[in-house]
Amino acid sequence: MKSLRFLLPCLALGLIAGCSKKTDSSAAADTASPDKVKIAFLVKQPEEPWFQYEWKGADKAAAKYGFELIKLGVPDGEKTLSTIDTIAVSGAQGFVICTPDVRLGPVIVNKARQKGLKLITVDDQFVKDGKFMTDVPYVGMSASRIGTKQGETLAAEFKKRGWNIDETGVCAVTFEELDTARERTDNSIAALKAAGIPAERIFKAPQKTTDIPGSFDAAQILLTQHPEIKRWLILGMNDNAVLGAVRAVEGRGFTAETAVGVGINGTDCIDELRKPSPTPFFGSMLASAPQEGFVSAEMLYHWIKDGTEPTLDTRTEGILITRDNFEEVLKREGIIE
Ligand code: GLA
Repeated sequence: MKSLRFLLPCLALGLIAGCSKKTDSSAAADTASPDKVKIAFLVKQPEEPWFQYEWKGADKAAAKYGFELIKLGVPDGEKTLSTIDTIAVSGAQGFVICTPDVRLGPVIVNKARQKGLKLITVDDQFVKDGKFMTDVPYVGMSASRIGTKQGETLAAEFKKRGWNIDETGVCAVTFEELDTARERTDNSIAALKAAGIPAERIFKAPQKTTDIPGSFDAAQILLTQHPEIKRWLILGMNDNAVLGAVRAVEGRGFTAETAVGVGINGTDCIDELRKPSPTPFFGSMLASAPQEGFVSAEMLYHWIKDGTEPTLDTRTEGILITRDNFEEVLKREGIIE
């Protein structure tokens, strides 16, 4: 493993990259360099700001290197496979994908191979027989470290506020069928326990869908089961997981004084942090979506154009943004103007 730091060093986004080696995800690895490179960037939830910012980063790479970029949403398996057909017909030589279902990995790899398309995964790593497909290039966040930081931040806020543990509960909005999500919430919970929060004060609220309504519903069930809890700490796999729970606690009269939530992404909470008065959404672990979009598209471009094999595993780190620093950090990151 090697460690790289580049692009936006001010944000200290460390990138840990595994060694590059031949992958079997492309049948066209040795073809001559094309005159015009065309790349598709497919994402599972195009409505989520995270993915829109990833696209923005890919746009920057397209502008820098002069390749053509097609951005498409692939909300389910059927759409994913038909879209791969479509982009192949349109003359693309490869695609970056955040798949709607990680278990589609083997099918997507086969399809890409049949069509002679190079492939880089982003955010959600492919899984085969319960194991990560580590031979397919992957760019994503360091889920365990970012989860740990989320838990540590919540524990620090709990201590700072001097809350009584007997009145406090942790609402952990989970989506355990997605590995990156489970790694984040598991490590966040572990950090809370390491900071002294007893396991019996930590409650999981499994979300059925990874959007605000999904986490709102999950939290509602938990809140109904625990009317005795007077203070809530809220964690989840991304900003929307935490925002749904924040809306649910607010609906029961909790405020920024009695509930604290910390998200992950930092892209989907900008309006929330801009609200004139603080809400229970305290902050978020920002990982750079534009950087992930840029890097994955750039690696694919070089792979197609020059035959440079991409690194197999590239991870971004996260930093805490709150109402106090988010404008400055997000401006620096090029996320807001
Ligand atoms: C998953 C989540 C997104 C975002 C990315 C980051 O895909 O659904 O909201 O957190 O991971 O890698």
